[in-house]
Amino acid sequence: MNSPTNHCLKNPLLSNVGFNLAFHKNNKPIDYNILTVIELTDLVKVVEVAPEVFWVGVNDWNRRVFDSFIPLPYGTSYNAYLIVGNEHTALVDTVNPGFEDLLLRKVSRVVKPETIDYVVMNHAEPDHAGGIPRVLATAQNAKLVATRRGIEMAGVYYGVPPERAVAVKDGDSIDLGGKTLRFLEAPWLHWPETMFTLQAERQVLLTCDFFGTHMASDRLFAEDVGDGLLKEAKKYYAEIMMPFTLFVQRALDKVAGLDVKVIAPSHGPIYRDPKRIIAAYEEWARGPLKPKVVIAYVSMWGNTEALTQAIVEAVAAEGVEAIPYNMVVADVAHVASDLVDAAAVLFGSPTLIGGPHPLIASLLEVLRCIRPRVKLGAVYGSYGWGGGAAAHLKNRLQSMGFEVMGTLEVRGKPGKEDLEKAAGLAQAVARKVKESVIKIK
Ligand code: FEO
Repeated sequence: MNSPTNHCLKNPLLSNVGFNLAFHKNNKPIDYNILTVIELTDLVKVVEVAPEVFWVGVNDWNRRVFDSFIPLPYGTSYNAYLIVGNEHTALVDTVNPGFEDLLLRKVSRVVKPETIDYVVMNHAEPDHAGGIPRVLATAQNAKLVATRRGIEMAGVYYGVPPERAVAVKDGDSIDLGGKTLRFLEAPWLHWPETMFTLQAERQVLLTCDFFGTHMASDRLFAEDVGDGLLKEAKKYYAEIMMPFTLFVQRALDKVAGLDVKVIAPSHGPIYRDPKRIIAAYEEWARGPLKPKVVIAYVSMWGNTEALTQAIVEAVAAEGVEAIPYNMVVADVAHVASDLVDAAAVLFGSPTLIGGPHPLIASLLEVLRCIRPRVKLGAVYGSYGWGGGAAAHLKNRLQSMGFEVMGTLEVRGKPGKEDLEKAAGLAQAVARKVKESVIKIK
């Protein structure tokens, strides 16, 4: 920001409520790219991301897990947006329970919270909708706007009565007075009721979970975050969006039909250059799988580890990328991220009490949840007095639609012949990966 100048909000609603806030304004012309920060403490910072579209979200710096299994090394944020028209005001999405006070304090920097007319719920999950009861209790004339399924879920989760709710369908709009909200149904991103809200005049698309990143940051805009952002966005994609690849593709087609200038999700940074994240999603959802093999394993006494070393070397010798993950220490988010575009996955597990090691069994449950496109695999491992892990894993993988190219179980410490068999299995998988041109239609 350069050349700080003081000016006041021009919107009549704002002057009506008596605010006279000092802004810092950069010297660019007023368009989407302007970063106008209402100068308050960081804790109650409000940012105008487009004219009269205000970020009133919060950072959750300390959260370390989402849905009780997704690691959040950088925390997350719950972005809510206040859109102020000449006649009406809408709040799009709210915040996780516990952050309602901060949300309302932020809203109060722009309008009186009691004057909110519409609370738009793009998604019913509590990290965005958990603040709805408090907001509706504060803004007693406000209506909740959501898809038909969303209204139903708002009743179940938040006790919103039907008379406080307005159901919208694809293409419906609400005129705020000089500001139009258009609603686009975008189901299963990441629950069935999800939708997008488009601020039509400025083409600001509010996508809630879609295009999000689990990242708390004082950098609100993607362009200020640096190259690490897409790595985090890919992890988020793997865990939140990949289960719904078909719906991601449909949503991408819908977005392609718009002329979006700003993508403002409800987790992580806002994209003032939407092409960047759209291209990444196109690649993750529709791009070809890569010549890389994920090798997820556990070893208790070094025997499955020895097989893993032979497998890694054999895959690499074929010119295919081998990515081993020891699941005792691996971050499941990294594994999920590599499964977005890996062409094969190998599972190594010792037999433990007649079945696979619990950490590998758990990883298969993660796979069931995140539904990667990869459907080529193999299984290997060691045992002490009786096998069984390989057969169990093979059946489990086949039930998820995998082609299992082979299983290998070795008793005790692998000998030369065992290591050659492991290398042979890995070589066969790597060669099939190389021969395959794998695209999701
Ligand atoms: Fe960010 Fe599906 O909630």
